[in-house]
Parts: sequence; structure tokens; C-alpha cells
Amino acid sequence: MKQTKKEFIKELLAKLTLREKIGQMTQLNGRYFCETEAELTGPFEKLGISAKDLAMIGSVLYLSSAEEAIAVQSKHLEDDPNHIPMLIMMDVIHGYRTIFPIPLAMGASFDPDLMEQCSQMAAKEASASGVHVTFTPMVDYVRDARWGRVMETMGEDTLLNSRMGAAQVKGFQGDGYGRPGSLATCVKHFAAYGGAEAGRDYNMVEISERLLREYYLPAYKACLDAGAPMLMPSFNSMNGVPSTANSFLMNQVLRGEWGFDGVVISDYWAIKELISQGVAKDNREAALKAMKCGCDVEMASTYYLNELEKLVRDGVVSEAEIDRSVERILSLKWDCGLFEDPYQGASSEKEVECQLTKENRAIAETAAEKCAVLLKNDGVLPFSKQVKKIALIGPFAESRSIIGNWRANGKDEEAVSVADGVRNLLPGAEIAVVQGCSAELDQFDEGEFPAAIDAAKNADVVILCVGEQQDYSGEGKSRVDLKLPGVQEKLCEAVCAVNPNTAVLLFNGRPLVLTGLHKCAPAILEMWFPGTEGGNAAAKLLFGDANPCGVIPMSFPKSVGQCPIYYNHPSTGRPKKAGDDDVFQPFHSNYIDCGNLPLYPFGYGLSYSSFRYESMELDTHELTKDGQIKVTVKIANQSDRDGEKAVQLYFHDPVASSVRPVQSLLDFKKVLIPAGKTAKVEFTITEPQLRYYDADCSYHSDPGDFDLFVGYADHPELKDSFRLLD
Ligand code: GLC
Repeated sequence: MKQTKKEFIKELLAKLTLREKIGQMTQLNGRYFCETEAELTGPFEKLGISAKDLAMIGSVLYLSSAEEAIAVQSKHLEDDPNHIPMLIMMDVIHGYRTIFPIPLAMGASFDPDLMEQCSQMAAKEASASGVHVTFTPMVDYVRDARWGRVMETMGEDTLLNSRMGAAQVKGFQGDGYGRPGSLATCVKHFAAYGGAEAGRDYNMVEISERLLREYYLPAYKACLDAGAPMLMPSFNSMNGVPSTANSFLMNQVLRGEWGFDGVVISDYWAIKELISQGVAKDNREAALKAMKCGCDVEMASTYYLNELEKLVRDGVVSEAEIDRSVERILSLKWDCGLFEDPYQGASSEKEVECQLTKENRAIAETAAEKCAVLLKNDGVLPFSKQVKKIALIGPFAESRSIIGNWRANGKDEEAVSVADGVRNLLPGAEIAVVQGCSAELDQFDEGEFPAAIDAAKNADVVILCVGEQQDYSGEGKSRVDLKLPGVQEKLCEAVCAVNPNTAVLLFNGRPLVLTGLHKCAPAILEMWFPGTEGGNAAAKLLFGDANPCGVIPMSFPKSVGQCPIYYNHPSTGRPKKAGDDDVFQPFHSNYIDCGNLPLYPFGYGLSYSSFRYESMELDTHELTKDGQIKVTVKIANQSDRDGEKAVQLYFHDPVASSVRPVQSLLDFKKVLIPAGKTAKVEFTITEPQLRYYDADCSYHSDPGDFDLFVGYADHPELKDSFRLLD
């Protein structure tokens, strides 16, 4: 009779020596298993372990093909005296080989179904190459665009992050990982990594428990509730203690309150970094602190292998604690199907069959279209497809480096540039391409401006392609300024001055300060890093074969000095009076040299359609504790063009026992509204949605009146109110 999982694990665990158990708790860079020298971390001997130790390692990361995965796994199964398959993990963040838009762009879609579909595609591609687990979703709540990893999140709203994160879990895992074509997920970085002081990566986070629980924690919980079996603590210290050794986070909240019994894996060298963070005097103490906070797997360093045996012998760590971690790891391997099939169907043939296919490119292109945000349009867009002469200007005009920084096995050269896309769409048009300037931060050469201006003068329409290089955002890539690098803004000003039929395409991994661009450009389309099919998507959006429907997931500041800036900010005792945001109001909460509001607020995005909110009706204006209010919103598409709309419902609690945000996203739905038609969108309000963490961290709602509106942040289109009864 087939053993149950419990019986199998019990029997296997009983066979393992203590060191073999600790080997299961160690994850090494896959390069050690492919080459002797791992450029990232030098020869494995430097880790103080032997070749025999290598044979007992529990998991690897960064293998990059089915061939590698099969070779490494089969050799390991021979070398490991217990023949335990390794878990193969990778950062499949927004695509594996076919790259779709960066997560911040996916957040702009406000479309969890799209996120699930793209994640499912990525899972199939990665699984074919032998990946079992992805270090995704990353759902770190963010408010400061100086931080480079904002590109990896879905933005400044907890509900949006939660829904999009849960959609990723569903997409990667399907109805249960452990079969070819699915991946187990690992939610990260727990917790509050996005709260790094001054937006500087890896920097400390000081945060009240109230703020942590209300804004930063829910999205991680949503992903675990959606079935993510793994979690990764964050590098940062939180209130003085690095997450990896933070007992409040790891024991009290994660294992205690949330009852999570899945696998916790450290971030890369994070256990080792406890020493440089000054909370561990040596390798032994670093290993002990991580162990005592339930960190089951050490990524990339070998403090567990080199220290835990002694800690067990010294009675400081019990073998039962080791066994608990190893049981979690073996349980995950069982659930991933590795004991049935250590290869999970990976093969070079499968890679050819399911990676970078026409279907996957189509999914990536649709995603790039739906993530784009039309920030400004004085009427020049969409361009006519009858145009004869097109000037493509800017450092991103012909660039294929538009797939973003976390690209797994995606390759720039497999991407479609804007020039490629325009040529594909309008093969008969005459296209002049001029780089115009560099996108590098410290390049100020304007030598190509005359050529750019000349090309613009002689064109029917001009497409300016500017932005940040893709290695200016992502891990370790914080900036102190958010302007377009180099002289790109000056190039835009010069070109827009000579041809009013100009549209600017933006390629960037974070909100930028676009105040100057907004003044000079007749149209601005935010493409983010759109992925492999970015150029085709951009062309279709510019020439009207696609209709922009993305909205801002993270505020675009008017000045970097406003950071951190976010839509759901609390009121103050001296709020600015309504009116021109850029006019200074003495003795009010504002700046003498800049307005308070962002240039582009959360939830904002234009369309080629024209939508009008016709009505918002509540079936009752009184909400009981266990009742609900049904809200019906009617929104008309008054144009001759079908269009999608992110319908957003916000509320405000004007009087509570703690200061509350001036507005909070209560719910959202993305709907397609055919030309000339009116859509009916229904929301439900219940009392739990109105709860918040009070000053003493009690979690409750307050009876009383609530304001309600549809529209986008700071821009109510229709308003109403309701009362929550005691
Ligand atoms: C990195 C990142 C983390 C990633 C891990 C493995 O340092 O912080 O997000 O999953 O290492 O690549």
C-alpha cells in the first residue's frame, strides 16, 4: 500500500544524520553544481564545506535550463546517500522566457485576471526548464519612488497589492502545484521592505505596529491565504531587528497569529548579514538567531551547515527544532511531486514547445497594452495609420532593453523595439530613427539634437521614446532624483517645439518627476518596462489598434522632495484649502516651493474612449454590523470606441478614534464598456471593510457616517454617504 505523506516523511527523516538534515536546510547557488567557480560567490570551498556536503544540499537557485536542471538533479540523486531530490528555485517575477510587463505595470492594469493569466504562462515556461518554486509574489507595500524595487511591487495600495499578489499565486500554482506546468510560490519580502528610510535599498525601517498591520502586512497574508507554501523574510531591520531574526514578525505574527507552517527561506546571504547589521557577533550567533525565528532554509551562505551541529551538541538548538524545519522542507518536496518525478516533466523539447511561442507573445503583448497608462493627450492620439512619414526619436526608439531588470531567462534581443513595432504595424510608412541623446544619468551631450529636430520637422508624426535604463531600477537601485536621466527632457522640449504631432513614450521602472515633460508634450503614454512585446503594444496603442486602459498604481510626484507621497495619506490639523495646489497657503500643511498633490495621482489614467459616470445608487444608506450595502454604479462610454475602465470605489471615515486617510480604495473592478453603451458595476460594502488599527492596535470600525465616491484619488466623480450603525 502506498505510504501517506506523513509516513513517508517520518521514515525518511529517521534515516538522516544530523548533518544530512542540515543539508536539507541549505540552498546554494546553482552555479556550484554546474561550474566549480561561481562568479557570484567564488569556489564552494570558500564556504567551508566539502564535496560530500554538496551531495546533501536540499535546494538550488539560478539553474537556467532543462538541460542544466536534469544534469544537476540526476547527479545529485546519485551523489546524495539518501537520494533526496533538490528543489530548484528561481525569481520568475514577470515572465520566464516570454517577459510580460514589470509588476508595477501589472498593478496599473488593475486586472487580477490578467495577472493570473500571465503568471500561468510563466509557470508553464519555467516548469519546462525544471523550475519548481518561484520567489514570487513580491508584495512589499511602497510609498517612496526613490526605492528601486518599486518596479517589483503592484504599488501604493494594500487592496491592489493583495488582489494582484493572490492572483499571482493562483496563476503559478493553478489548482495545486506539484504537476508539470505549475510552480510553488514564495511570498516576499516579509516585512515592510518597501518602507526603507529615504528609499535607500536595504536601509532600516522604523514603523508603528499600527501602520505595519494596516498597510504592510495584509498583502503577504493574502498570498499565504491564496496558498503560497513559502515565505521569505526581508533584508531590512524592522524597528531595530532584521526580519530574519525578528521574533515579533516571524514567531508572533507569522507562525503564531497567522499559523503559517510552511517553509521560510532566508533572502540571499541574509543570515550572514545579521553580523554586518550588528545583531550577531559571529556566524554561530547568526545561525542561532535565524533558527530561533523559524528560518527553515538558509539561502546562499552556509552558517547552518557550519554551526548548527555544534549548536545542537551544545543543547542550544534541539534536534526536534531541526526536524521541524526538515519536515516542512520534505513536505514541500512531496507537494511539488519531486518524490514521484524529480524532473517534473522538464525537457529541452518541452522548452522549445512551450517557451516564447506565438500564443505567449500574444499574451505578453495584450498585457503590455493593458498596463500602459495614457497620462496626457491633447488630441494628437491615436495617430492616423495613413501617415506617411514617422520620426522615431530618443534613446528607446530602437532599444530592445525594455523588458525590465528581473528577467529570468528573457533576453533583450528577443524583445520587439518601438521601431520594430511601428514597422510591423505600418510597413509602408517612411520611418526616420534618431537617438537624439543618451538615457545615461551623467550624459549631457546634445550633439544629436539638430538631427532629431530636423527629423521631427520633416515628419507627419513624431514618437519620442525616453525613460530610465532598465538597470536604474530593481534591487539595489535607489535614486535620489526622479527626473528623466541626462538631457532627455530637453530633447523632448526641442522636438515638441517643432512638431505638435508628437507623442512621448516612457520606459521606466518607477514613478518619475515629469512636470517639465507634461508642460511641453502634447501626449504622454507610460509604457513602464513592457516586456518582450513592448514595441508591438506601443505601436498598436499609438495608432489606435489598442485603447489605453491602465491607471497609476503609485503616485507620480511633482518633485522628489514630496517623497514619500501616497494617495491614502491622513489629514492634518491644517489641511490645504481646495483650490490651486501649487499656490502656497501660509500656516497650512504645504510647501512654499511645491504643491502637495502628485502630478499624476493613484488611479488616474486616460483613454481614447470618453467615459461618464451616470449614477451611483445605494440600496440602503444604513449599514448594520452584519449587513451589507449594494452599490450600483452606471458608467457610460460616450465614444465610438470600445474601452476598458478601472472603476474605483473610495471611502473616507471623517470621524474616528484615530486619524484616518482622506480616502481609501474600498473596491475596484476592470470592465469593458462597448462604444455607446452603459455598464452597470456592482460593489458590496460590509462592516469589516471599514475596520482599521487604532492607536492601541485594536482592530475595529467606528459607527457613524462615511463618505463614498467613485473616480480616482483626489478626483471624486460621483459622491454619496452612508451610516454604519452601532
Ligand atoms: C535577492 C532578492 C530576492 C530574491 C533572492 C534570490 O537578493 O532580495 O528578492 O528572490 O535574492 O534571487
